[in-house]
Order: sequence, then C-alpha cells, then structure tokens
Amino acid sequence: MTVQISPSILNSDFARLADEVASVSQAADWVHVDVMDNHFVPNLTLGLPVVEALLKASPLPLDCHLMIEDPDRWAPAYAEAGAGSVTFHVEAAAAPIRLARTLRAAGARAGMALRPATPIEPYEDLLPELDMVLIMSVEPGFGGQRFLDGVLPKVRRARRAIERRGGQVWLQMDGGVSTETIERCAEAGADVFVAGSAVYAAEDRDKAVRGLRALAER
Ligand code: DX5
Ligand code: ZN
Repeated sequence: MTVQISPSILNSDFARLADEVASVSQAADWVHVDVMDNHFVPNLTLGLPVVEALLKASPLPLDCHLMIEDPDRWAPAYAEAGAGSVTFHVEAAAAPIRLARTLRAAGARAGMALRPATPIEPYEDLLPELDMVLIMSVEPGFGGQRFLDGVLPKVRRARRAIERRGGQVWLQMDGGVSTETIERCAEAGADVFVAGSAVYAAEDRDKAVRGLRALAER
C-alpha cells in the first residue's frame, strides 16, 4: 500500500489560503478541503468559488470533502471545476451510485465518506463505483477533536471488503490523525491520511507531513 498524506486546511489562516497551501506542497500528496454547509454539520466553511480560486493557486491536487446536504446536486460542480478527488457523505446522498458515476465522468476520483456511526457493510456493493472510502474518526464539523478509537474495527472491515474486490479503492482516515494515532490507522488498513491540526499547528509543516508519512509507512 502506498501511503498518502492530505493536510486539511480547515484550521489554517483563511485570509492567506494560497500561502497555507504552499506551506505543505513540498511534502504532501494532496490538499484536503473541508466544505461545510451549516446543515449537514454545524459549521460553515467555504464553497465552490473558493475551491475554484484554490485550484488555480495550489501546486497540489485538491481532495474535496463535502460535508453538505444534497451532494447529488452540488458535488458534480467540484469535479467539473477540476478537483482531483470529490468525496460525498453517503448519509446525505440520494443516489450514491449515480453520483459516483457522475463524478468519475467529470474526471475526478469519486469518494464516499462515512460518519463514525455509519457502518460499511450496507455500502460494500458500491466499492466498484468508488476510488476512495473516507472513514471519519471524529464527528465531522470541526478540526482538533480527539480521535475515536472505536472506528478502527470498521477500518479493518473496510480494508477486507476492498481486498475481496481487488484492492483498488483508497481508504482514507479523517479526524484526529496525529503522530499519536497514525500508526494504529495504518495498521488497521488506512492508506490515505488527512491531518489538520497535526500539520497546521506545526512550525515546519512539510516536516510534520514527512514525520506522519514515516510513521504510517513503518
Ligand atoms: C472535520 C474535517 C477534518 C478536519 C481534520 O470535520 O473533516 O478534515 O479538518 O482536522 P484534525 O486533523 O485537526 O482532526
Ligand atoms: Zn475532512
């Protein structure tokens, strides 16, 4: 498994987003952009116009995590704008298969996210339609929360389900990923790691990314 690190700009300085993205661009694989609509989660961040501006400014591809209601309606525009990866929450999607196909047809990788309490089993048959499964290890909405160890058995089940179907789908962990928790996530089968505060609170962010990668690769 190839380890990938996707720093989340959620807790970065929104007045200096281009610089904040540049500060991880030597070491990271993706930039994770948390889109929140104040309905699916109790927080409001940014939307398509800011993502379009970031697409022009970012040397790295954008990994857009949509914590929004009605992704069937809103998510395709992020793929059409050029986001490398677009992840919708399955709890909010009316027609996840159709949505995943639309995202892929627009040239993006299609991701499906699960809240901590959402099981993987009902959605295993969707795996051939997907490029990534995101398992939340905090309740979505805010950065800097404590990692929920209780999701690790679900990560193991998701990894086994992916392997039964050929192992092409990436498995992303998001929430509370740090030097304290990333080894447990990797051991359970995750291969793409979102880290917000663990990277953006660090003095040298590229160094923080390299440190996380080294722990996940052990
Ligand atoms: C939370 C977001 C995460 C968040 C992670 O709802 O989806 O991407 O930014 O931040 P940390 O790593 O601080 O938990
Ligand atoms: Zn996220």
